[in-house]
Amino acid sequence: MSSLDELIATLYSHARSASDNAHSPYSGARVGASVLDEQGNIYSGCNVENGSYGLTQCAERNALAAAVHAGMKPGTAHTILIYATGFDALAPCGACRQVMSELMANDALVISCHSEDVYRSWSIGELLPDPFILS
Ligand code: THU
Repeated sequence: MSSLDELIATLYSHARSASDNAHSPYSGARVGASVLDEQGNIYSGCNVENGSYGLTQCAERNALAAAVHAGMKPGTAHTILIYATGFDALAPCGACRQVMSELMANDALVISCHSEDVYRSWSIGELLPDPFILS
């Protein structure tokens, strides 16, 4: 089993369960995301929509906010896995790429799954080259 397969086996069920809690009456898309840190902790989130559409929070940002709230040290998250209904393998939005870039490791891995066997994966650098960093 490759390390990528192992990461999927570890995170897929967490992200999929998180998607069950999505609040998405407008798009109907149920998205879950799970973050794995260096200590082996897993933090999850789902998308939460709002009738004022621009207030919608994506699953990835909610998972990372949950991680920070639980005490995860920024930079120690090395993998995030996304599961979304209605997509083959959702490519994360720009806002989520920016937040991942700030809170995850520089070489973090982003995996997006349709199932445990059908997925796409990227490094955070591929998703957001030359990120904005406040100096
Ligand atoms: N969504 C996410 O949760 N993550 C993304 O990276 C892109 C989009 C959610 C937001 C909204 O609830 C639904 O998917 C459709 O845009």
